[in-house]
This record gives sequence, structure tokens and C-alpha cells, in this order.
Amino acid sequence: MSDTTTVNIIDPRELRDCCGSFASGVTVITTRTPEGDHGMTVSAFMSVSLDPPLITVALDRRSKMLAKVRKSCRFAVNVLSQKMRPHAMHFAGHPDETLTDLFLERHGLPVLLGAAAVMVADVVQQVEAGDHVLFLGRVRHLGRDPAAAPLLFHAGQFGSLATDPAG
Ligand SMILES: Cc1cc2nc3c(=O)[nH]c(=O)nc-3n(C[C@H](O)[C@H](O)[C@H](O)COP(=O)(O)O)c2cc1C
Repeated sequence: MSDTTTVNIIDPRELRDCCGSFASGVTVITTRTPEGDHGMTVSAFMSVSLDPPLITVALDRRSKMLAKVRKSCRFAVNVLSQKMRPHAMHFAGHPDETLTDLFLERHGLPVLLGAAAVMVADVVQQVEAGDHVLFLGRVRHLGRDPAAAPLLFHAGQFGSLATDPAG
């Protein structure tokens, strides 16, 4: 294991690799503005509080999604199921024209058909955080498919649970 001992010199690539050692699920954040619906793949999702019900996502300042969430003040977190690897790429800047009829509507926002879980939230706080912005959302609507297996992300690769027979 490499060891970065000089605390003031953190190489962004190494930081990214270290953070990538933390296995996560994959979400697509969706929102709606007068210009239309937009989705973006995000692994930086976190549950924050049960009472009140709060969640957060970290969005890159360079993303189109940032301005859209600032405008709509609402977002939906769509937790991707194991079969939705193509969706993860599609909403990360690699459009896949074979993906059609992706959305249905929940609580006034577009959400992804086939998602393992959906949370629709109102933005209650924004935290400027370097090259990202944290959006804290108060959850207004929930949906879940208890039978869905999750899509996983680790060290830059997609994966699935070892216990998943379809994996
Ligand atoms: C697996 C995966 C996870 C990602 N996680 C994040 C994330 O947490 N935050 C972020 O800002 N971008 C993340 N991205 C990158 C965005 O999805 C990508 O830059 C996207 O094209 C931005 O979309 P937009 O500019 O159309 O809004 C991730 C990409 C992938 C493939």
C-alpha cells in the first residue's frame, strides 16, 4: 500500500484512487426545469438523517446538472439496479440510443423505470465544497423494489453482489 505522509501534498489522482477503494452503489440524479428533464450518474450519494429525512449528493461544478438543480431546487435519486449498467454510462456522457422510454413521473419529477429505489427531495441547503457542491435534500417521496439487486462501483469498475445469482 502506498503511504502519503506529507499531509499538505495530496495528489488528486491518488486521492481519487483512495476514494475509489470505497465501494458504493450507483445512482442517477434526475431533475426537471422549464428547459426539460435531465439525468446524471452520481456515486457521491449519502443518507444523512432519518428525522428530518435528509439525503445529500455531491455535484461537480462543471456539470450541467448543477445549474439545473439550483434552478429547480428539487432532485430525485434513482438507485440503479444491477441491470442498469447501460443507464450509468448513458447518464455519464456516453449517450446510448438503444435506451428508450426511460422515465416515469413521481411527485412532479422524472424518475427511472427499473430503479432499485427512488427518493424525491427538495433542496434545503447547498454547501460549496471545492470543485463540487453538496446538495442537502429533504425527502418528499419514496419508492423501492425490494427484489432488485444493486449495481455496485469500486475502483472505477462496475460490479454486482457475489450473492446475486444474475451477477
Ligand atoms: C460511476 C460514475 C459515478 C459518478 N459519480 C459522480 C458524482 O458523484 N458526482 C459528479 O459530479 N459526477 C459524477 N460522475 C460524472 C458525471 O456522471 C458526468 O460528468 C456527467 O456526464 C455529467 O453530466 P451533465 O454535465 O450532463 O450534468 C460519475 C460518473 C460515473 C460513471
